[in-house]
Amino acid sequence: MAEPEARAVAIRGGTVVDQHGSRRADVVVAGGVVVAVGEGLEAPAGSAQLDASGCVVAPGLVDIHTHLREPGREEAETIETGARAGALGGYTALVAMPNTEPAIDSAAVVAQVLGIGRRACVEVAVAGAITLGREGTRLAPMAEMAALGVRLFTDDGRGVQDARLMRRALEYAGGIGVTLAEHCEDEALAAGGHMHEGAWSSRLGIPGQPAEAEELMVARDIALCRLTGARLHLLHLSTARSIELLRAARAAGVPVTAEVAPHHFTLTDAAVAGFDAVFKVNPPLRGPADVAALRSALADGTLDAIATDHAPHPAEAKDLPFDEAPPGMLGLETALPLALGELDLGIEAVLALLSWQPARIAGLRATQGGPVEAGRPANLCVIDPAQRWRVEPGALASRSRNTPYAGRELVGRVRHTVAAGETVVVDGEATR
Ligand code: DOR
Repeated sequence: MAEPEARAVAIRGGTVVDQHGSRRADVVVAGGVVVAVGEGLEAPAGSAQLDASGCVVAPGLVDIHTHLREPGREEAETIETGARAGALGGYTALVAMPNTEPAIDSAAVVAQVLGIGRRACVEVAVAGAITLGREGTRLAPMAEMAALGVRLFTDDGRGVQDARLMRRALEYAGGIGVTLAEHCEDEALAAGGHMHEGAWSSRLGIPGQPAEAEELMVARDIALCRLTGARLHLLHLSTARSIELLRAARAAGVPVTAEVAPHHFTLTDAAVAGFDAVFKVNPPLRGPADVAALRSALADGTLDAIATDHAPHPAEAKDLPFDEAPPGMLGLETALPLALGELDLGIEAVLALLSWQPARIAGLRATQGGPVEAGRPANLCVIDPAQRWRVEPGALASRSRNTPYAGRELVGRVRHTVAAGETVVVDGEATR
């Protein structure tokens, strides 16, 4: 995370929205923390002034599912470029996924990523692997990684296939007070599938993976969560029946949380019709009934968070034939406007899903997720909810270009981002 800059910042004329509601207020930041919130505040001499008229001043967004690709796949993204893309999207914290090369499965790699992350423009936290090399056979040294501050563990990109090993991992995680995050996919059932199995996969002649490949693991892991009492987080849920399973588990008091990615509530498998691998993602884009179920689960609180699953891939990889291209889509710079524009939710509910609820799941409450009040670390974003803009892949800050929203007009844009007291985005431009 960035070192707090000495210069104070005054954010003027906006509406503060956080978990305590909404009010007109200026916000003054100095020494990395919020020092005052109120109307018509005096700012220290020499403060930077950020205009927030017509805008919402909110706790910075927190992405609990970001592929930053470093170490090992720096041609797709680096911690620096991913953090910049995040800042432009309103994020002040990202949780780096461990499917790097090598995988983040040891204290040494955690320390390396955290070390690079300290120089990035937003807070970079790390998710450690559950199993060595994410191979699903032997547990990684989770306690050693937890000692460095890792609070979330996952083999994301793959699910832990062996139920007995997953049970042991949950027992161990419960003992050391960390959360396991599962990529729910039964690999045997999904094998060979490059998109959702349904009418579109038949029509296009692309082998599909059935919704049940996800749902089997959702059901299994909810059972293991009940058995062990350990905290479980379900990554990028995509099907209507996964939501039914989640809803029943939560009603029964099982300690499970879950997220959805923006592409799963805004796109369907029909998007694959042009065989463009930019629409290839795992779990795959599903059908309209799944999209509707995800949207209602966001509205009724069944889903806890929107997480980007920002998955950069270089053009050479995405230009391959559909069945050879890797799955994954960019997400950091488009998540907030998609949530604001596509969901029928108020801004406070959207911010809950993008900021303070994910901050809690990731164990980042000490620094992230608000509320916006004196004494709290100054991680803030200023959002213009009315600004219209068109997604131009070449203008994105990510090192990769694989957005499925190219050319689409979105409503709502981040105007300024303040991370650890430093202005890292001003008027829609990154400052470093
Ligand atoms: O589409 C995906 N891409 N899903 C994953 O789970 C992994 C990700 C990646 O790392 O590219």
